[in-house]
Amino acid sequence: MHYNIALLPGDGIGPEVIREAVKAVDAVCARFGHTVRYTTGWVGACAIDRCGNPYPAETHALCMESDAVLFGAVGDPRYDNDPTAKVRPEQGLLAMRKQLGLYANLRPVETFAALADKSPLKRERVEGADFLCIRELTGGMYFGEKGRRDSGDTAYDTCIYSRSEVERILELAFTYAARRRGHLTVVDKANVLETSRLWRQVAQEMAPQHPDVQVDYMYVDNAAMQLIRDPKAFDVLVTENTFGDILTDEASCITGSMGLLASASVGAHTSLFEPIHGSWPQAAGKGIANPLAAILSAAMLFEYAFGLGAEGKAIRQAVAASLDAGVVTEDLADGGKASSTAEVGDWIAQFINDNK
Ligand code: IPM
Ligand code: MN
Repeated sequence: MHYNIALLPGDGIGPEVIREAVKAVDAVCARFGHTVRYTTGWVGACAIDRCGNPYPAETHALCMESDAVLFGAVGDPRYDNDPTAKVRPEQGLLAMRKQLGLYANLRPVETFAALADKSPLKRERVEGADFLCIRELTGGMYFGEKGRRDSGDTAYDTCIYSRSEVERILELAFTYAARRRGHLTVVDKANVLETSRLWRQVAQEMAPQHPDVQVDYMYVDNAAMQLIRDPKAFDVLVTENTFGDILTDEASCITGSMGLLASASVGAHTSLFEPIHGSWPQAAGKGIANPLAAILSAAMLFEYAFGLGAEGKAIRQAVAASLDAGVVTEDLADGGKASSTAEVGDWIAQFINDNK
């Protein structure tokens, strides 16, 4: 098959990790007989520098006409300590999610045997943990009305959800849970928040239509604790935007390094694939960024956007092999020999090539 992939490397370490993901995509395509055309677009601080807009119309047009989007990261220290900045790189990502209708963010947390000792949790707690976080991505406080009053001395962000927004993300969560181990945990704060009570009500209404899925409900503060106390107790976890942002960062370190967590954002239009680690500007250009999350995002791209399971698996196997072989960046090297970002990417592409 032939595929058009939009590359949006973005800021910070985005470009260098996306470069390695492209090597893996090329290797898999060569092995399985696919062809790809890449078109690069601007998003984030680099887009603001070029044209003043973090998600320019031409980038949106490119995403809309592509079969999938491979995205790096956005963010720049120039904006971090400037609360008065009118335009921010992160707005590019939020606009992209909204305009592409990407209402669901899927963040699988899997543990790799070779990394069990890198986890901040005890080996026996993490080994075998395998769950999927589904984060609602286009609603809640991120997109509700926000502003200032009292001459700027009072600020507010509104958390708002409609029934249809809740239904579509829960429907997806039920579907994924049924395909996995049939266990869905709905995470909310229904003891305090009205939006959470709507989520819980809708979930309870939907549950009888999904008899193959066992549903339980957990308050987000408790979920934050249970995730590190007993990560193996989770199969599919679904939650609203802000809770999902926080819990998935927490969940990401369970695997031993945030540099391993990939994600897919799916919804109305072209799906987007991205590492969740962010732009890490201090490391940009140094060749120390871990490319595995971006490479695993490419695996998700084959699986989720193109329905090509064998291709995704070939990438995952290569990643696991690189970890077993100790070909890792410094975050995983444990004082031992660290490879550069490009060396890890080259090793993985080579492994995919050699294992035809
Ligand atoms: C993420 C990031 C983004 C978010 C930022 C960069 C806007 O933290 O994808 O988790 O908060 O959603
Ligand atoms: Mn985040």
